[in-house]
Amino acid sequence: MSGRPKMNRRILVTSALPYANGPIHIGHLVEYIQTDVWVRFQKLRGNRCIYICADDTHGTAIMIRARKEGRSEEELIAAMSEEHQRDFAGFDIQFDNYGSTHSDANREICGEFWQSLREQGLITERAIEQLYDPEAETFLADRFVRGTCPKCGRTDQAGDNCTCGHTYSPTDLIDPKSTLSGATPVMKEATHLFVQLDKLHDFLADWVDTSGALQNEVANYLKGHFLSERLRDWDISRPAPYFGFEIPDSPGNYWYVWFDAPIGYVASTCQWCASAGEQLDDWWKSDQCEVHHFIGKDITYFHTLFWPGMLKTAGYSLPTKVHIHGFLNVDGKKMSKRDGTLISAETYLKYAKPSYLRYFYASKLTSRVEDLDLGIDEFTDKVNSDLVGKVVNLASRVGKFAHKTGLSSSYPDDGGLFDAAAAAGDEIAASYEGCDYAKAMRRIMELADAANPFVEHSKPWELKKDPAREDELRDVCTVALNLFRQLAIYLAPVLPDLAAQCGELLGDPIVSWDQSRQPLLGRSVAKFKRMLDRVQTEDLKKMIDESKELAAADADESSPGTQFSDSDAPLKEEPLADEITIDDFAKVDLRVARVVSAEQVPEANKLLKLTLSLGGDERRVVFAGIKAAYQPESLVGRLVVMAANLQPRKMRFGLSEGMVTAAGPGGAEVFLLNVDEGAQPGQRVH
Ligand code: 2FM
Ligand code: ZN
Repeated sequence: MSGRPKMNRRILVTSALPYANGPIHIGHLVEYIQTDVWVRFQKLRGNRCIYICADDTHGTAIMIRARKEGRSEEELIAAMSEEHQRDFAGFDIQFDNYGSTHSDANREICGEFWQSLREQGLITERAIEQLYDPEAETFLADRFVRGTCPKCGRTDQAGDNCTCGHTYSPTDLIDPKSTLSGATPVMKEATHLFVQLDKLHDFLADWVDTSGALQNEVANYLKGHFLSERLRDWDISRPAPYFGFEIPDSPGNYWYVWFDAPIGYVASTCQWCASAGEQLDDWWKSDQCEVHHFIGKDITYFHTLFWPGMLKTAGYSLPTKVHIHGFLNVDGKKMSKRDGTLISAETYLKYAKPSYLRYFYASKLTSRVEDLDLGIDEFTDKVNSDLVGKVVNLASRVGKFAHKTGLSSSYPDDGGLFDAAAAAGDEIAASYEGCDYAKAMRRIMELADAANPFVEHSKPWELKKDPAREDELRDVCTVALNLFRQLAIYLAPVLPDLAAQCGELLGDPIVSWDQSRQPLLGRSVAKFKRMLDRVQTEDLKKMIDESKELAAADADESSPGTQFSDSDAPLKEEPLADEITIDDFAKVDLRVARVVSAEQVPEANKLLKLTLSLGGDERRVVFAGIKAAYQPESLVGRLVVMAANLQPRKMRFGLSEGMVTAAGPGGAEVFLLNVDEGAQPGQRVH
């Protein structure tokens, strides 16, 4: 790295917005930790940096899940947002704003982007046939369809690409199945709106080639796979039903979740601006501000072609850099529920410290788009030998004595260790800046390796025994704690907790990278508290076991029926009746009827008088024993099922011309049978 970096940069940083339909797990955390480290590093360097994120709330999956859980989408996403934010906080991931794509700000900014796309003639419209799930009654996004690859014949492949590398449309799949219901999708036609991305071809090709925003391998991939030919129109709308924003000038159509998700970066910034008294344009439309996106390799296409295209069209800044990382494997394999390696953030935190994972990921992350392996043994070794054995050890060996001696007033001779570590600052900073955290961690551990022998040789535990050598002991403490502090500063982006503990011990909070250049002298040292314990292998084992159990419970829940555990009492109280023939059943003429009036019968304890319509002018008066269970006015208008061919029965209050069907033992426990909307009075119930 030549020279010192430009200071006081203005930097806006985002991580991919997590979907609101699932919990955060250790795979997601690679990215959030990677980003949080980068942001903390920038802040420590004195740059003006904000970390923006939000929940990605729209789409079919959320809609279906809310339906299944019998709550509104809004309720579901509010609960998920709380859960996500709790998990992130648990890992010391600190956002400047955490928003939601289902916000007024997002709707408004989506409208603005849309308007620009329209005005620049980039939107076109055509009817397309799409797979439709007849059971879930919804069109299916590509990723909700799986089937057999038309090219290589592999089964259970995603709707848009196969592990063989072939890409296709879900309609090309052999034997497609909806992942929502398992039903075989059918083809159905609907009008969709498209962004004609190819109109931006020249611009995008140039941006990919010359902006420097992309890692080389990413730029080459885009050139080879997409930019070498015509860019396909991007299908940007979904017909109702869809949970999202309705397109203002295309009623009945909604913006596809991938349209409003990245705009969520802007909307969340907008919320932050409102609370921080800032102007959105200073962050999103200024060449004085850098925009950095951190994403996983699976969403490269969206962030490196569509998103720059949209930003360009709407007059926003283009990304300064899109930092793309690989996937997480555990012990060399894809994370799996069955193996208990798809560990949720919540489960992890029950058994291990966030610092362990933050350090481990940092020690593995480079600037390349490579998958990263979390080997359980390697994890234990690294944390125990590097963090606890080398870094924390430096402080814990002298901590107790230093509380008595305080720090010397001038810096003792340490054989050049402090100066060497101070000089390493620029190199370590450059590694952080370039997202090569692995290199930064290696360099920091080299410094730790150099520092530890100093303490070993000086034997403070022996000096302590001889009161005449107190000055010597103080000097050893001064060196050890200052070297420890340098490490804590360099590690502060990764280990904010350790930095805080160091600040507390020495009465000097770590707030700037440059604190690593000057030793602390002539001051007292607080009472030493334990900083970080070793990882226990048994705890990791328990973590994996619990994840396995949770996955098994989950699987049980989603296998048909097992999530319901109704009491067997009703059937015991009234066992099933003797078998009848279909002809016997057909004798009872059950009909859909609408309650057109409902009144109290003052003289009766249990009855309400209902007038039922069978359509047209056909009316029946029925006295029903439902007075304790229903208010008459709540019944008017609803559909019920009535036995329509019962012999009329003369009652004290008038003639009852049939019976409404209901379940339950009686009294307040009576439940009228419900008829789904759409049925018409007069229709027979078979
Ligand atoms: O892939 C995902 O998890 C998406 N929810 C990421 C969205 S990133 C951005 F564009 F909003
Ligand atoms: Zn294939």
